[in-house]
Formats: sequence, C-alpha cells, structure tokens
Amino acid sequence: MLFDAADFDAHEAVHFVHDAATGLRAIIAVHSTHLGPAAGGCRWWFYEDDVAALTDALRLSRGMSYKNAMAGLPMGGGKSVILRSDAAPKSEALLEAFGAAVDSLGGRYVTAEDVGISVADMQIAARRTRHVTGLPVAGGAAGGNPGPLTAEGVFVGMRAAVAHKLGKSDFAGVHVAIQGLGSVGGALAEKLAVGGAVLTLADIDADRARAFAARLGATAVPVDAIAGVAADVFSPNALGAGLDEATIAALQVAVVAGAANNQLATPADGARLAARGILYAPDYVINAGGIINVVAEYLGQGDAASVARAIARIEERLADIFVQADRSATPTDVVADTLARALIGR
Ligand code: NAI
Repeated sequence: MLFDAADFDAHEAVHFVHDAATGLRAIIAVHSTHLGPAAGGCRWWFYEDDVAALTDALRLSRGMSYKNAMAGLPMGGGKSVILRSDAAPKSEALLEAFGAAVDSLGGRYVTAEDVGISVADMQIAARRTRHVTGLPVAGGAAGGNPGPLTAEGVFVGMRAAVAHKLGKSDFAGVHVAIQGLGSVGGALAEKLAVGGAVLTLADIDADRARAFAARLGATAVPVDAIAGVAADVFSPNALGAGLDEATIAALQVAVVAGAANNQLATPADGARLAARGILYAPDYVINAGGIINVVAEYLGQGDAASVARAIARIEERLADIFVQADRSATPTDVVADTLARALIGR
C-alpha cells in the first residue's frame, strides 16, 4: 500500500497517527530533509478512504520539498493530513493530540495552516509543540497570515511571465482572468487593479465576485466561464488540478500564472500547455511567498522587509525558468522539477 503506491517517491518517513482519546487519525509524510526540517502545512479534509488520504499526503509533501528548495529555504518538504470524520470532530483535545504527534518527531517536521486549518487551530496545536509556524506576529516581524504574501509572489511572478511572453514590463492594459477571490486571489486582484490591469473575475461565491468587480472596475463572470475567457493571463487561485485536457483546450490566453497548488491534473498537462504555446508559471515556484514568510517566522530569521526581498526574487527565478524552457524546448514544469530535484539530491 505504501512502498508500491504510485505517489511514493522515496519519502523518508510516513507516520500514521492515532489517538484513542480524541479519535484523531492523521498521516504525517516527510518527503525529504535533505535541506533541513520538513516543512509543510496540515490539511483537515474528508477523505473517501485511507488510501486517498495517503495519496494526498505523499503528493503534497513532495510538492513542499520542491517548493521549499526552489524558494531557497533551508527546509525540506513534508505535509500532514488529519482525516476528518463525524466520529472525531475537530476539538481542542484533537488539535492538541495532533500537536503532540508533531512534537514526537522532534522537529523533523514543522507544521502550519493548510486547507481546513485556521490560525486559531494551530495556536491550539502549538500548546504541545514548538514546531508550528504561521502563528500571529507583532508588526514588523516576519510571519502571520501567508495569503497576502503569496499574492505578492504571484504578482511579481506573473509580471515575469507577462514580460517573457508579451514583452510588457508592467500590467497596464494587460487582461487577467482570475479564478477564486479568497485570501490570495482577492489580494492579487487588488494589486493588479492598482497596476492598471483589465480584470475578469469569478468565485463560487458570486456575491463576492460581484463586490470585487464593482470595487475594482472589473467584470464578474460565472465560474464555469472563467477558464475560457479570452484574455492575456489565466490565474487559478481556487483549488488544484484545474488544468486538464479539456480546460487546456478551451483556454484563450498566452499565460497561466496563479497560486493554486497542483494546478496540472497530470504530468502530461504541462506539455499540453507548452504545445499550445501557453506559458505556464510552475505553481510551487510562483506561490512560495507564504512559505517564505512562515519559515522566516519559524527560524526567527529576518523581518517583514527581508521577507519582502526574498519574495521579490520569485520574479527572477521564474524568468530564468522561462529562458531555460525556451532554450531546451522543454515544458516549464519539467524544467522546474529537474531543478528542484537536483537541489534536494534526487
Ligand atoms: P481561500 O479558501 O481563501 O480562497 C479560495 C477562493 O476560491 C474562495 O473565495 C472560494 O469561494 C473560491 N473558489 C473555490 N472553488 C472555486 C471555483 N471552482 N471557481 C471559482 N472560485 C472558487 O484560499 P487561498 O488561501 O486564497 O488559496 C487559494 C489557492 O492557493 C489554494 O489552492 C491554495 O492551496 C493555494 N495556496 C495558498 C497559499 C496561501 O498562502 N494562502 C500558499 C500557496 C498556495
């Protein structure tokens, strides 16, 4: 079930956690500690079965190894999932038990928020372990809510893509279609509007999309229309695996650049984008702003200003990947994966 699983990638360790008192069932996957402690968030999610949970933990932890390595962080990659169930509702005791499980790994794994886990949840887990980040910080310090900083990284990364593909150095008149207006997509829309971009927006919360559109002078469209909007850039900032054979065939853009994790449904989809001449900004490179921020918080290194400088480097990193992809006629996701794997000694 584990060693021959399709997504097993020589993960260093996979811990299965059970706490009888609270019913906690969790999987903590440590993909690589080659560059440092394995860092990656905790997801609280309802999984169809244990295998689905394991698959998620294996894929997400490998993605964190790549993301942290490409961001130049002294951290490896890991991820945890808590199997959501009616029999074991989220409670303080359950989150504390999760914190204790993280602590038992002695710092080999550092956790943070992910889907379904709030800052308040992590503050509870932090009662039992210090290997938690993404906690509230005082003004000027590095750390706290990663969403706006992820948006900053996507903004500069998208600028690199627009420069490479469209030959434009800013967003004036550039048409961006944004899918998802949450913590990242919303902040990104604000920044792009200030930069003079033309925006088309969609969110499953249609009222939210309409409110953003009214405030930013943008156009709101239904969610099933956003990926087919004729624009310069498509920016996925909702859930992952949105780029598959059908959606890629329907895209009418020159660039795909957004924060969603695991945007490519399958490895073949990077090649599909390249074959259509669409420049894809590899997700784990462009969306690293948040992890750069919370790792600085965890290590107690730097402040908000040094985090901002580190996030600004995402622009140059992506520009390098685009040039390498052109030179080698290789899809950008393959170029990024190759660079990331070399950094983690794989
Ligand atoms: P969020 O939960 O704050 O926002 C997601 C938004 O997308 C919500 O407004 C939701 O209504 C909307 N949405 C969901 N499904 C949709 C659909 N099919 N079409 C249109 N809108 C839809 O999440 P957040 O934090 O903004 O993250 C967005 C993406 O970026 C996620 O994939 C996340 O994994 C990824 N990411 C987030 C980071 C962060 O710092 N928050 C860091 C790296 C990646």
